[in-house]
Amino acid sequence: MTEQKTYARQIAIDGPAGAGKSTIAKLIASRLGYIYVDTGAMYRVVGMVALDRGISLEDEAALTKLAEELRIELSYNDGVCRVFCDGAEVTAEIRRPDVGQAASTASAFGGVRRALVAQQRRMAAEHCVVMDGRDIGTKVLPDAECKIYLTAALEVRAMRRFLELQAKGSTDTLEHVTSEMVIRDNRDMNRAESPLCKADDAVEFDNGELTIEETVAGILKLAEKK
Ligand code: DC
Repeated sequence: MTEQKTYARQIAIDGPAGAGKSTIAKLIASRLGYIYVDTGAMYRVVGMVALDRGISLEDEAALTKLAEELRIELSYNDGVCRVFCDGAEVTAEIRRPDVGQAASTASAFGGVRRALVAQQRRMAAEHCVVMDGRDIGTKVLPDAECKIYLTAALEVRAMRRFLELQAKGSTDTLEHVTSEMVIRDNRDMNRAESPLCKADDAVEFDNGELTIEETVAGILKLAEKK
């Protein structure tokens, strides 16, 4: 008789930019039939709308209002994650590099974080989730039974992001992609509110020399209930 495996109901994946969090989290969610929550996409929506409406990225009150009032929806079907803001699809636009920087800047404000964290916790209360971001294991889901800190060397992460952007037609150089990544990671790791860090009870997983499948298998093993 084969033994039925059971898994943690909440799988939290944190780590720096380009660590492969969303690729891996999506696959794990598909395998387990869980909801995938891309929390970075939520901060990106706030950053993108701020840029589009000319709202200063230093205006905490205005950015908090956006985070509280925008209707941000994430859908995940057949391996495809789509993002909507007030009913309009923004899946592609939020991936722009300038939106990534704006998201990182806006996400340093406590008001913005409180509004989005409340929504993220509601999603996790209603479904089994794989959630990725910067503060999932430390702040959003501190009781998650499986916490992963996914990382890889800077050169590996920057090369992944460079190839991703190239595939979309970008002419950005590897040097520029690397320096932008360093700026964003430093900001995310050194802010006062919920900085990116490994939760005490998270397992650090360096996937720099692993394939996607090896990473997924390794994390699924860690998520298995003994
Ligand atoms: O994961 P990402 O690159 O799409 O995230 C964009 C930015 O949003 C990231 O630089 C920092 C911020 N972020 C955050 O502060 N907390 C999260 N849980 C997720 C993202």
